[in-house]
Amino acid sequence: MRKLVAANWKMNGLKAGGVMLARDLAKRVATGKLSSELVICPPATLLIAVAEALKGSSIALGGQDCHADEKGAHTGDISAVMLKDAGCRYVILGHSERRIGHHESDADVRAKVLAARKAGLAAILCVGESEAERQAGKTLDVVSRQLADSLPPGLAGMDAANLSIAYEPVWAIGSGRTPTPAEVTEIHAGIRRALGSQLREVRILYGGSVKPQNARELMTAPEVNGALVGGASLALDDFWAIARACG
Ligand code: PGA
Repeated sequence: MRKLVAANWKMNGLKAGGVMLARDLAKRVATGKLSSELVICPPATLLIAVAEALKGSSIALGGQDCHADEKGAHTGDISAVMLKDAGCRYVILGHSERRIGHHESDADVRAKVLAARKAGLAAILCVGESEAERQAGKTLDVVSRQLADSLPPGLAGMDAANLSIAYEPVWAIGSGRTPTPAEVTEIHAGIRRALGSQLREVRILYGGSVKPQNARELMTAPEVNGALVGGASLALDDFWAIARACG
């Protein structure tokens, strides 16, 4: 399975720096031998400029969120159709910073997954437990519930081409802490079981404080099919090192 390495720039980057980072990454991809697929998810203001910078490159473009509706009176929101129109192939959905910071429920996330599918985007659906849930031993329960409730009932219409899962423990994001590779393998195996045979080829990424220093051990752990990278995706050398660690 070809790994997917996604750069989640979050709310970071202005035009000049973002375009330069995307261009420099595209140059490295063109000359370096990389078997993984890369996707850059810049803030919405940079989508068009980064799309332009990535022209001719194999690096894909992704959004960080979308609205469930195609268009309408939703000030400040962006639809999946708009992301597609801007050149996106992917969209991150259900990130914990949206679930917590913007009170998105599983039902909200499910509606977005459906909108993304309809627009022809591939969703990178984020799931993950809080610190308290981990300590209570509820990780797999939480993640399984998020999967069941954030995906369409019966997984209708979902396949490996329009869906990846990102396992992102909330306590690991931006904290410098990560689960052990063995723990990641265990949770990913649980996610794989929950997805069932229909979605056997879906990629399951790990996200949360992936850095050059820990990328190899995390990315070569069984059941890990790539990474969703926040902070370290803002530095060319760091993101490149992570991509290389994936293969
Ligand atoms: P981080 O963020 O790599 O900065 O921990 C990951 C994410 O939130 O996707």
